Amino acid sequence: MTRLLHVDSSILGEKSLSRSLTAELVDKLRGDIPGLEIAYRDVAAVAPPTLSSALFFARASGAEPEDATLRADLSAARELLEEFLAADIVVIGAPMYNFSIPTQLRGWIDHLVVPGKTFAYTQSGIQGLVAGKRVIVVSTRGSLYGADSARSEQDHQEAYLRTTFGNLGVTDFAFIRAEGVALGETQKKEALAAARRDIAALAAA
Ligand SMILES: Cc1cc2nc3c(=O)[nH]c(=O)nc-3n(C[C@H](O)[C@H](O)[C@H](O)COP(=O)(O)O)c2cc1C
Repeated sequence: MTRLLHVDSSILGEKSLSRSLTAELVDKLRGDIPGLEIAYRDVAAVAPPTLSSALFFARASGAEPEDATLRADLSAARELLEEFLAADIVVIGAPMYNFSIPTQLRGWIDHLVVPGKTFAYTQSGIQGLVAGKRVIVVSTRGSLYGADSARSEQDHQEAYLRTTFGNLGVTDFAFIRAEGVALGETQKKEALAAARRDIAALAAA
């Protein structure tokens, strides 16, 4: 059985473009992969607990905290990590906000990057421990940041996600893009059509 984790992070609710596109992508994969088991996580609706000093040290110690709020946060953080580890395919709706990703998505990632679980420090540097996972990011952004654009160096969204998941060991990594969606109706329509073509072309396996 194949397990898919669908994560949305846009704060724009029904106006969100990334939410529409991740839903279409997950529908396509549901049709392509028989018996696909799908978990859904909306990190904008329920924000992951902030990785505070107390939560960081509680996580590292492995002991159960006495404080009830900290215990609940640690339990929520562990659930997010387990859910990620259990998935064969992870679909992430990642809008560009302020040249990067939404705070809530960053908060989710803070619970995935855990030494000894998803990466290890070795003498030769960081070694990713996450193998065999397919990560598909749906990237939406108001302006254009492609390699040949004037703004390419301002992309801390896709570059950040690629770096982060790459360091965890993810090698099967794809981006579905709707770029320039704030540059007028024509560009927005073209961007959405391009993203939909990429979704249709995505191979199931
Ligand atoms: C809070 C906020 C910050 C944004 N920051 C940027 C930005 O830095 N660069 C950019 O090109 N577009 C930016 N945009 C435009 C979004 O990337 C665009 O609206 C995209 O569709 C957002 O995805 P969503 O519709 O799923 O939320 C921003 C939008 C919002 C709401």
